[in-house]
Amino acid sequence: MLFQELNGTKCKTYLIADKHVRKALLIDPVKENIDRYLAFLAYQKLNLEALVDTHTHADHSTAGFELQRLTGARLIMHRRAPVPRVDEHVDDGDTIRVGDVTLRVLYTPGHTPDSISLYTADRVFTGDVLLIGGTGRADFAGGDAGQQYDSITQKLFSLPDETLVFPSHDYRGNTQSTIGQEKRHNPRISGRTRKEYIELMNSIKFPLPEKIQEVLQPNQTALDDDRTAFPALAELNQVRQLAPEEVRAYLDAEHKPLLLDVREPDEYQGELGHIPGSLLIPLGELTKRVDELEAYKDRPVIVICRAGVRSTTAAAILTGLGFEHVSNLKGGMLDWNDKKFPVEARTPS
Ligand SMILES: [Fe+2]
Repeated sequence: MLFQELNGTKCKTYLIADKHVRKALLIDPVKENIDRYLAFLAYQKLNLEALVDTHTHADHSTAGFELQRLTGARLIMHRRAPVPRVDEHVDDGDTIRVGDVTLRVLYTPGHTPDSISLYTADRVFTGDVLLIGGTGRADFAGGDAGQQYDSITQKLFSLPDETLVFPSHDYRGNTQSTIGQEKRHNPRISGRTRKEYIELMNSIKFPLPEKIQEVLQPNQTALDDDRTAFPALAELNQVRQLAPEEVRAYLDAEHKPLLLDVREPDEYQGELGHIPGSLLIPLGELTKRVDELEAYKDRPVIVICRAGVRSTTAAAILTGLGFEHVSNLKGGMLDWNDKKFPVEARTPS
């Protein structure tokens, strides 16, 4: 196995490759380094087979979409990832194979709802869930400190003590650690109960990542063209969130709200299906097709997507355009399907 960290900065991108069949996988590639990755792959005569984002990043633009387009490599993320461009959704216990390299997926939410860690042989890639001497923040983008504590103490700390730890970030110049070392010495989590950990994380006032406005929503939507004016975070936070049960109750109401699905057409017809009666306008077309919704400016609109993230963006855009009663289906079609509520057009599996 060929293994290398490629960025040399606080933000880490790992390459893993099978030297014999010349197949490679990148973990958490960064958009500004695409040229470097392509040069390295060419120099090493490696074919890029797969790209894994360990979660939806808020601090850097992913190179996933661009490398997927340039190389044909498949983009792999957890099933909770909100973005539509994922080729392969994975969940806890799944395996990712590239040549003779096999990575086992550990679902480790907490930093975000779509966070995974990848375990192979002697090492684990922990994303931003477990850092060296720290843990990733859990205070926005669906983060949850309690879930994070469970992911670290129950999943990651159950790996052998000698397992090497490679996180997605390190701010202190470290390159690797071990599970045993983090168990014993990680000042955030070592010796703390779940309750104490949540209290600690709630007490830390993290500044928002510098480029969050330019980075997070493009990473969540795969839209980064100039035509898409994303709402500010404060506007997203104001979007009214409805539980699937509340939306389900509306289906039987006399005056039905507009159910507006903002996914891509292949998702609308895909494995999660769509809610009967919903109207499809993909997020990228929303502002130019907003005239079609004119009749709903003062009527209830419920916006829907895969994970409830793109639809929150769409709901904030519509509110900004003067729509008065816009809400969002929390958890999107993933939670809707988990509840076994009615769907249409799901392809047989
Ligand atoms: Fe992160």
